[in-house]
Amino acid sequence: PAWSSRSSVAQDFDVVVIGGGPAGYIAAIRSAQVGLKTACIDEAKAADGKPALGGTCTNVGCIPSKALLQSSEHFEQAGHHFAEHGVKVKGLELDLAQMLKRKEKVVKGSNDGVMYLFKKNKITFFHGRGSFGKSPTEIQVGNETLNAKNVIIATGSNARPLPGAEFDEKLILSNDGALAMGEVPKKLGLIGAGIIGLEMGSVWRRLGAEVTLLEALPGFLGLADETIAKEAQKIFTKQGLKMEFGVKISKVSPSKKSVTVQYAASDGSSKTLEVDKLIVSIGRVPNTTGLNAEAVGIKLDRGFISVDGECRTGVPGVWAIGDDVGGPMLAHKGEEEGVAVAERIAGQHAHVDFNTIPSVIYTSPEIAWVGKTEQQLKAEGVAYRAGQFPFSANARARALGDTNGLVKFLADAKTDQILGVHIIGPF
Ligand code: FAD
Ligand code: NAI
Repeated sequence: PAWSSRSSVAQDFDVVVIGGGPAGYIAAIRSAQVGLKTACIDEAKAADGKPALGGTCTNVGCIPSKALLQSSEHFEQAGHHFAEHGVKVKGLELDLAQMLKRKEKVVKGSNDGVMYLFKKNKITFFHGRGSFGKSPTEIQVGNETLNAKNVIIATGSNARPLPGAEFDEKLILSNDGALAMGEVPKKLGLIGAGIIGLEMGSVWRRLGAEVTLLEALPGFLGLADETIAKEAQKIFTKQGLKMEFGVKISKVSPSKKSVTVQYAASDGSSKTLEVDKLIVSIGRVPNTTGLNAEAVGIKLDRGFISVDGECRTGVPGVWAIGDDVGGPMLAHKGEEEGVAVAERIAGQHAHVDFNTIPSVIYTSPEIAWVGKTEQQLKAEGVAYRAGQFPFSANARARALGDTNGLVKFLADAKTDQILGVHIIGPF
């Protein structure tokens, strides 16, 4: 049976949100704030079987990855950088179990925080799997039927598996397993040198693993500005991340204690990489199976829910937001859509400017950008001016002892309107 945060379960709602990740829980909170009677359904469970509100971001994404990035950076600093500041460390040791325990505590605090906000805003919570019933405004969860004037789908995404290398979370890991390794692997392989590849690769390299990233594309970090990507590649290579580009994976064979990856290198030669663990981080796929969405007339496109520029599915009263509608798979993008949809339901005018969604890669140095890259402006034929400044010439960075990186601005040649800002630097 569905679990509800209220003793008596109401059946009729102005808004029912399916999915309690950043897109869904923010949509639910904003709906309640603008006076709509709101329910949210989420199926995620903590280890004790209790609700684990907050979605991928809170449970196996943004929050735990940032916790481990912070802890592993402390270890790296203490081991390699404190001495130059005159701070001597003797007997430095890694307590991985404590590091993972702290990460779990940070996650639990965030799970509880969302539940607290639901109670505070009088949102009815159902713990279970939601799906469409006989009509687009009838939602089933466990034995309950909820009648909704509006439904917001926010079911998020899952790691994309590599055909022939299914996740077992023991040897072949998605982000779930990558955030929970009980010991540091001697050799760690990552397929995909995207954002997860760089963040998780950095965590485990700092903790002592020999890390190799295998990337299909010929170049590094295609989404970032080329100047930043070039600088980042130089710095990460110096840190010890091994990266190969233009590879084609031909076979992944797990044995008892290791995984062998066979691949064609960019020059066409056949190569083999043997690792203790393999993380597959080749993007994410929308999580829309089992929703029964198509049966009630909702259109899907390669698993993504089709929506217009305002998150309407085309079926009256049904909206979709977050990772399962495409666009950048970022928590704050889903949150903005959630706020806007709640306000639209309440009859207000809301706008999300998709040109100003920032991206951050929480490595060291950190990479952040917003707006257009120089290569995009060139391709679009926009007349622009570029300016950049290195942290090596910045006294604050020199005082920090971290002078890697630069800040780059791109502006319209005529109007000076800022078109893009790109940073790689200390945090
Ligand atoms: P999700 O967070 O995936 O939430 C969907 C929820 O719906 C889940 O709880 C799921 O259990 C539930 N659900 C699904 N189907 C049903 C159903 N039928 N019934 C009931 N419940 C259901 N983004 C950032 O902006 N910054 C970061 O630093 C960052 N780091 C990341 C690190 C990693 C390792 C990963 C994997 C992702 C990271 N992301 C980050 C991306 C971010 O996690 C996602 O963009 C974000 O979680 C998407 O939010 P969402 O609400 O759309 O979906
Ligand atoms: P990604 O899209 O960032 O990177 C995937 C990489 O894998 C790409 O470079 C791609 O070319 C490569 N690839 C794809 N197929 C391949 C193959 N068969 N062999 C080798 N390489 C292959 O996706 P990633 O890293 O899995 O992360 C998923 C999403 O999660 C990100 O796109 C991002 O939206 C979100 N995320 C955000 C973070 C942040 O905001 N700091 C942190 C981590 C994840």
